[in-house]
Amino acid sequence: MPAVSARAQPTDDVAEVLLTADEIAAKVLELGARIAADYQSRDLVLVSVLKGALPFLADLMRATPIPLALDFLEVSSYGEGTETSGVVRILKDLAHPIEGRHVLVVEDILDTGHTLSYVFDHLRAQRPASLRLCVLLDKPARRVIPIEIDYRGFEIPDKFVVGYGLDYAERYRNLPFVGVLKPEVYARSS
Ligand code: IMP
Ligand code: MG
Repeated sequence: MPAVSARAQPTDDVAEVLLTADEIAAKVLELGARIAADYQSRDLVLVSVLKGALPFLADLMRATPIPLALDFLEVSSYGEGTETSGVVRILKDLAHPIEGRHVLVVEDILDTGHTLSYVFDHLRAQRPASLRLCVLLDKPARRVIPIEIDYRGFEIPDKFVVGYGLDYAERYRNLPFVGVLKPEVYARSS
């Protein structure tokens, strides 16, 4: 069996590291402290959108030292490319009612806004006491639907990024940093 180091690694496909693991960790601590202060003594539910937000959620909840609950939604926009189609559907709904509870949606990235506007309409219909948004990455240049962000990690340029949960065709989610893929990676798969 060849040595692991001889095989192609996910990092080989990265042209540029946009945010290091340390930069992300520092920002997550800052966001967690703000959320803990704002939601002290409230019935807080972190609602995360699978699968991209998983690493962010896992780190953020441990940086938020107040009682809280977790729930998950899984949504999909059709297609596997680097563009959202605009058509969103729910693959997995919440496990518990959120009526009267304080909901904070935790997402990996806000791009066109199609996904989160759909998610927000879906959640608002269930009458939570409050509904706010925490996103790690904000790509404002691509916004089609305006969305208010209550807790923002980083504003990033209009580049397709992977890592720390974000994928390209389901790969690269396990990179510990956020990076930009080499253009030949897209060329290879199209
Ligand atoms: P939106 O609906 O266009 O705002 O896109 C939101 C979803 O598209 C995110 O939850 C991601 O799954 C995906 N997405 C948008 N931009 C990127 C990116 O740069 N890298 C990886 N996934 C992205
Ligand atoms: Mg995705």
